[in-house]
Amino acid sequence: MVTDEMTIGVSRRNFLQAVGVGSSAGVMFATMGAVGLAPTAAGQPKNESWSPPRESDFTLTGRSRKKVVVVGAGPAGLASAYELQKAGYKVTVLEARHRVGGRTLTIRDGDSETDVNGVRQTARFGDGIYMNAGAGRIAQWMVTMDYLRELGVPYEVFTNANADAYLYNERTGSTPGNPTRYRTAKADVFGYTSELLTLATDQGALDQKLTAADKENLRSFLRSWGSLKADGTYQGGSNRGFSEYPSAWNEHGTPLAGPGSVSEVLASRMGQYFPFEINWEQSMLMFQPKGGMDTTYDYFVRAIGKQNVHLDSPVTGVRNTSSGVTVSYTAKNGKPREIDADFAIVSAPAGLMRGWETNWGPDIDAALGEFALGSPAGKIGLQYRSRFWEDDHRIYGGITETDMDLAHIWYPSYGYGERKGLLVGYYNTGTNARTYADMAPKQRELRAVEQGVKIHGAKYRTELESSFSIAWHKVPYIEGAWAYPNTESSRFKQLQQGAGNVYFAGDWMSEVSAWQHGAFWGARYAVQALHTRVMTT
Ligand code: FAD
Ligand code: PHE
Repeated sequence: MVTDEMTIGVSRRNFLQAVGVGSSAGVMFATMGAVGLAPTAAGQPKNESWSPPRESDFTLTGRSRKKVVVVGAGPAGLASAYELQKAGYKVTVLEARHRVGGRTLTIRDGDSETDVNGVRQTARFGDGIYMNAGAGRIAQWMVTMDYLRELGVPYEVFTNANADAYLYNERTGSTPGNPTRYRTAKADVFGYTSELLTLATDQGALDQKLTAADKENLRSFLRSWGSLKADGTYQGGSNRGFSEYPSAWNEHGTPLAGPGSVSEVLASRMGQYFPFEINWEQSMLMFQPKGGMDTTYDYFVRAIGKQNVHLDSPVTGVRNTSSGVTVSYTAKNGKPREIDADFAIVSAPAGLMRGWETNWGPDIDAALGEFALGSPAGKIGLQYRSRFWEDDHRIYGGITETDMDLAHIWYPSYGYGERKGLLVGYYNTGTNARTYADMAPKQRELRAVEQGVKIHGAKYRTELESSFSIAWHKVPYIEGAWAYPNTESSRFKQLQQGAGNVYFAGDWMSEVSAWQHGAFWGARYAVQALHTRVMTT
């Protein structure tokens, strides 16, 4: 569910409208020229569509293959390296952390993470159990799906909405042990709003807007949408679900108690959760790679060549030189190293790159500052010895929404029928994420469980085996969940031009930050800009 805190405050215009390859290009070059960093005009993408570099671009033109250092082995860095290497570029990827994937981190048994304060956790999970600590879901239209298919990554449905998951608003009346099922809340909200709209229609309140035929069509729609009685009133019905479902012995089922009055239903504020299901980024079907989100990036590494991806190699500086770039980093053995290349694509979090030794100038640093991963987010994985949410609550995947500080509870979309399972016991942002981040891991677990018990009962505590929590603003070399890029700003367009022989990539370099889709498009833009330049100079 998108809460106010979670709503990404950016205009989500079409990527191709936003990349500024049309009329505003001149403005961008002027800006870059003024700071002495503009690559040649010939180096900008020409077409308003992705045209991947091809091997034949080199073989047919006799041009020499260029060398590119890619900084960061998250989605943007690995996709950049992959696309370049497919065309014959010589690519080296430098990653600061001990693993690839960046914010798509999947935690499995034995995985350890140490936060920026030195707090270390090691996951104690069962066989095949994992927690997607960062990215968890992919919409069908996202380019992420294309990479899964191209690389052969197996994937399955991620259940983002489930009529039998719960809504629990304790600030507006939910009481412990009394969560409401989505289907019940929907029946009541749709029922009463339909009743009210029917009444308004009958009383002539909409006569200015509607013809007689419109009114009849509206009434007929509302009758079925809201399960209204013949007299236009809402009195409940089977759409709410049952306390005992129909069977051979109880053929009509046992109805649930309720519905409450129209005032109670409106006051519950349950309706606020419904837009999520039709949100363009979040509507079903959605997908996940089998075995965990970061599996995808193992496939990327295999395609790029393991020998070309260096882990534990934090970059400390990127400098433009007369012939290309020099990238300084600390090698795995702790020794400082330098690599010379023709170009670099840098995909580390924007705010952190300001701490590097660079000669791209204060203006670029200032621009990077606007794209820092400013938002905190946190998750906890709770491993249980039984799948009581399936056995007792009949919830197979999906999300329970709450107004508690845990915000969302995710049921697993894998492992059905297994004995054990793992829930995401909180997924929160903003001040709620900071509240949990400021606690020790055990305290986070206790607080999440204390709240979850109100919805799921005692087993939420007694069946718990282990937990693992993440606070994204405390993860070294990441230090935030996502940025809120203003893609209309001249800063964005400035960064899209690159800085000399350095190009910037990342989800923050796209219209769709906080999604791998955005990181892939950010990478594609950088690759296309770089390649166009190579082919035209
Ligand atoms: P990152 O993934 O951040 O990768 C940057 C890389 O640069 C990291 O590996 C980092 O270690 C490395 N780096 C940093 N400094 C250095 C240095 N000095 N030297 C070398 N390397 C360095 N996306 C979805 O598609 N679906 C989701 O459901 C989803 N949910 C999310 C939930 C959460 C809680 C979070 C945090 C993110 C979520 N995302 C989701 C977003 C997705 O994870 C990001 O959009 C994506 O990972 C961004 O890719 P990136 O390559 O731009 O950056
Ligand atoms: N992509 C992330 C997720 O789906 C963050 C996000 C949440 C982005 C809500 C947009 C809306 O969890």
